[in-house]
This record gives sequence, C-alpha cells and structure tokens, in this order.
Amino acid sequence: MPVVSMKEILDRALAERYGVAAFNIVNDLSIEAVLAAAVEERAPVILQTSVKTVKQYGRAQLKGIFDTLVGGVDVPVTLHLDHCPDRTVISDCLAGGWNSVLFDAHELDVADNLKQTAEVVAEARRTGAHVEGEIEGIQGVEDDLGSDEASKIQSLEVAVDFISRTGVDCFAPAIGNAHGQYKQAPTLNAQRVSDLVEATGVPMALHGGTGLSDEQFTDLIARGCAKVNISTALKESFLKSSLEQLRAAQEKDKWDPPSLFRAQREAVFAMARQHIRLFGGSGKAW
Ligand code: 13P
Repeated sequence: MPVVSMKEILDRALAERYGVAAFNIVNDLSIEAVLAAAVEERAPVILQTSVKTVKQYGRAQLKGIFDTLVGGVDVPVTLHLDHCPDRTVISDCLAGGWNSVLFDAHELDVADNLKQTAEVVAEARRTGAHVEGEIEGIQGVEDDLGSDEASKIQSLEVAVDFISRTGVDCFAPAIGNAHGQYKQAPTLNAQRVSDLVEATGVPMALHGGTGLSDEQFTDLIARGCAKVNISTALKESFLKSSLEQLRAAQEKDKWDPPSLFRAQREAVFAMARQHIRLFGGSGKAW
C-alpha cells in the first residue's frame, strides 16, 4: 500500500531528522519520473499539486492519473495540495482523496486565520487527511499565487499559539526563504525552525527549496524541516531539457515526440533523485 498519510511520513522524518522531498508535479510525466526516483532511492516522497495544476486538469482527472501511476509503487507516497487560500478547492481536494492540504490564509489576520485553519483541520480529520498551516507569506509568486513583497513576521509566541490551537500537522514558517530562484544567497533565520520545533514538536515545511545550498538544507533538516518543497527546480529541469531537445529536433528537422518525453523524464528523474539523496531520504522507505 504505497499511499500513506502525510503525518506518518513527516513524523518519522522528524524523529530521524531527514527531509522528505515534496515536489510540485505538473503533469503525468513528472509524476511518473518523481515516483521512479523515489523507488530507485527507496525513499518516501510527497507529490504536491498547486491550485493551478488542480484547476488545469480538473481534480478528478488529476487524482485519476495519480492513482494509476502510484499503483505499482512500493515506497510511501502522499498527495498534498500546496498553497491554497480557497476553502472550496480545499474541500474539493479533501473530498477527492488528497492526503493533506496547505490552507494558506496568511493574508487574513492571525485570529481569522486561526479560526478558519482549525475548521480546515476538523474537515481534514473527517477524511483522515492532514493540514499544513502558515501565518506569514512566503515571498515570491508561484503558480499565480503569492507576492514579491516580504511578509510581516509574527512572533514565536503567536506562531506557537497558532500551531497548538489549530492542531496543524505541519507548519510553514517564513525564515527569509522565497519561492523561485534566489537573486542572491538568502540569509535564513534557522534558529526560528529550532525554536518552533522545540516548542511544538510539529514538523516544519521548508518552502522555497530551489537554490538553497547543500549546507542550508542539511542544517534546516537537522533542526526539524521534515518537508522540503521543490518546485522551480522541477519546472526548470523539465523545460530546459525540452528546449535542448526541441533545438536539436529543429536542427535535424526530425520531430519525434517520444524523444522529447524521454529527455524530460530523464531530467526530472535526475533532479528528483539528487534532492532525495541530499535530504537524506534514501533508504528510508518502510
Ligand atoms: P521553489 O519553487 O523555490 O522550489 O519553492 C517551492 C515551494 O516552496 C512550493 O510551495
């Protein structure tokens, strides 16, 4: 049974201090390539979908593709909805069998965010699903959501109170991280991760994974970032391999779609395997 709960995947990773790579897949090919990398590495893996991807496919069709491709996989996999401010989409994905959701209500004031996140947690529990919460925006626009402005950072007390009163299973703190490629190496508030984990025992989600250094990943995972999000690196490996392949096709005037798919698959597979290894997930499947 490859599909397991988000909480099980993350609680094990937190206890053993390794990171589970959470890739924002964009289509069937990228789902298959990421799953193949996880199988090769014997690693648990999280597949996450942006709201944009859910809307593009339609929830039922996307879940159908996931179910088909995960069918022959024998490592733990969980399906997560990434940043979603829309309660309708949250409810739809929970009803449709997603294992977890990030209810992204950071634009609300903390009291309203807390109230609504607690409602989402109660709703998720009814389908055996889990919830990631956040109270600060992660800088950078991704799949049409978010902002390039840095968000207001809440105090440790406010964050701890939010985590304990909502009952979220995972929390996404803003620590100087950002979605997309970093224009310059970020200075991260790693201590905030340690403080939050020590105060709550809840695993943290590291957003904005693309472009962090190996040392930053290793340090943050050791402090309790059990979920490590990678989106931009997947998009880049997918599209840059496509560009290379299409340029070669144009040069030869030979247009063979399976060659393109092979190049895309190889690039996404290699990108996923590299991150899984770096985060310490290899060999952690159960
Ligand atoms: P990157 O696009 O920087 O890898 O961030 C991914 C992410 O945090 C998805 O929520």
